[in-house]
Amino acid sequence: MSYQIAIDGPAGAGKSTIARRVAREKNFIYVDTGAMYRAMAYYLLKEKVDPSDEEEISEKCTGAHITIRYQDGEQVVLLNGENVNPVLRTEEVGNMASVTSKNKKVRERLTQLQKELAEKNSVVMDGRDIGTCVLPQADVKVYLTASAAVRAKRRFDELTAKGESCDIQKIEADIVKRDEQDMTREIAPLKQAEDAVLVDSSDMSIDEVVEKILSLTEA
Ligand code: DC
Repeated sequence: MSYQIAIDGPAGAGKSTIARRVAREKNFIYVDTGAMYRAMAYYLLKEKVDPSDEEEISEKCTGAHITIRYQDGEQVVLLNGENVNPVLRTEEVGNMASVTSKNKKVRERLTQLQKELAEKNSVVMDGRDIGTCVLPQADVKVYLTASAAVRAKRRFDELTAKGESCDIQKIEADIVKRDEQDMTREIAPLKQAEDAVLVDSSDMSIDEVVEKILSLTEA
């Protein structure tokens, strides 16, 4: 039987860093579901799909074949056979993903792939709807959050460290907008599962959060 750890939460709460570390400690695979939604959004951007046209999204998304491969323990997302990891982390793709992930067909396709991965492997899976929809029977569920100001500051530091110029107020406004979109959509909105443990990382170090989640797996 595979063991499942579900980590949900808003953008910028540190889910991927934490989930990757927990997966390494447990020797499980890390499944970054946001990257799958980003790959789909990247495809739809390339296809010049109008983000407000649900019908067009439903029709065009069937042309995106997304698969996952692991290379040195890292998740590689293949879009129609091509490694798209290097293009997934831009703000443009992230904002498009927040819009196109509302689409029912998009969600059906990606949820199916995520369930299959978790059936075959022990996983740490992060996203928005893992504990509520994708893996409702997960062994451990965590809802990881932090204040919008703290999340914006972390993203600002990350971008400036890469030499990119950015405006912290704009980053925070984008974060608040994405939270709103992710929490209020009709299908599989971001919300804390009833049986999830709430972890607010605003004043916690990465090590502290990792320790906390590992302790839950030993309970
Ligand atoms: O975690 P992220 O920033 O890479 O996610 C990008 C977008 O994908 C996010 O705004 C909402 C969507 N998403 C989703 O709807 N369901 C998931 N399980 C993961 C991400």
